[in-house]
Amino acid sequence: MVYINMSGDQIKLMGNWRKILNSRDRISGRNRDLEYSWDAYDKGLQDYSIFFEKVCPDKKAGLKLFVENTLSDRRGQAVGVDVGGPGLMLFQGFDPNFFYKTIGAILLKRYEYSEILDEKHTIIEADCLKARGLRRLKNSLGGDGKVDILFERMLGGIKNYPASPEYLWSLLNNLYKLLRTGGMMFAQSPDLRGKEDKQNIQNWLDNLQNNSCGSLELKHASMPSMVHNVPKEDVYEIIYLRKLEGAPDDLPR
Ligand SMILES: C[S@@+](CC[C@H](N)C(=O)[O-])C[C@H]1O[C@@H](n2cnc3c(N)ncnc32)[C@H](O)[C@@H]1O
Repeated sequence: MVYINMSGDQIKLMGNWRKILNSRDRISGRNRDLEYSWDAYDKGLQDYSIFFEKVCPDKKAGLKLFVENTLSDRRGQAVGVDVGGPGLMLFQGFDPNFFYKTIGAILLKRYEYSEILDEKHTIIEADCLKARGLRRLKNSLGGDGKVDILFERMLGGIKNYPASPEYLWSLLNNLYKLLRTGGMMFAQSPDLRGKEDKQNIQNWLDNLQNNSCGSLELKHASMPSMVHNVPKEDVYEIIYLRKLEGAPDDLPR
């Protein structure tokens, strides 16, 4: 299993992760039943807006208008990606003239998505938590290979990934590197419930939020898991991150 940008420490951690990742691989590895089993699937913009409301910088405008207004100079040329979702309903919620191209990247394409349902939208099969999947995603972007707005809301799909600062850094950094200057992402962490690194992760995010000298915009918040639409304890961190002029190539650790 190869992760890009792995440091020596991360390689050491692989020992602990291997078990989790191997079991996840067995599940995701070509098992179509899993892709048909998700409760939440191809949800629309309104659903994403509620989920990311706490970190949306302009709560009054809401997610749709915040994105369209902030990226107004990209109108008609914007590229959007949903990592871990078909993204069809999500991107259809935006102004039809806003995007030039949108992509949903998932582990397996459901049969009902085999036809082209929207000429601007492509659904690809790519494990975006691995180097090869990220390369596939990058290749499908075309143009300069950069993204204006990226979402990663895998819900249960990301639940069992390692809840360590190193892993979250690697996950966010790989997505961050896809962003154009001025581009932004809304992302969800793995399940941090009861994890000893939860505080370290929150500290790292606080640090990024407070010390990025104006080249990064970041907001993060805890999010409860929803069981039958009833909020339970805080489980995930949700993160809004924008890359501005002068931002570093890699996210500071
Ligand atoms: C619960 S569904 C969420 C779908 C969508 N984001 C939404 O909110 O409606 C989880 C999705 O995550 C995708 N997924 C899980 N691990 C992934 C990975 N490593 N790379 C890409 N997609 C992944 C699955 O294929 C599945 O489509």
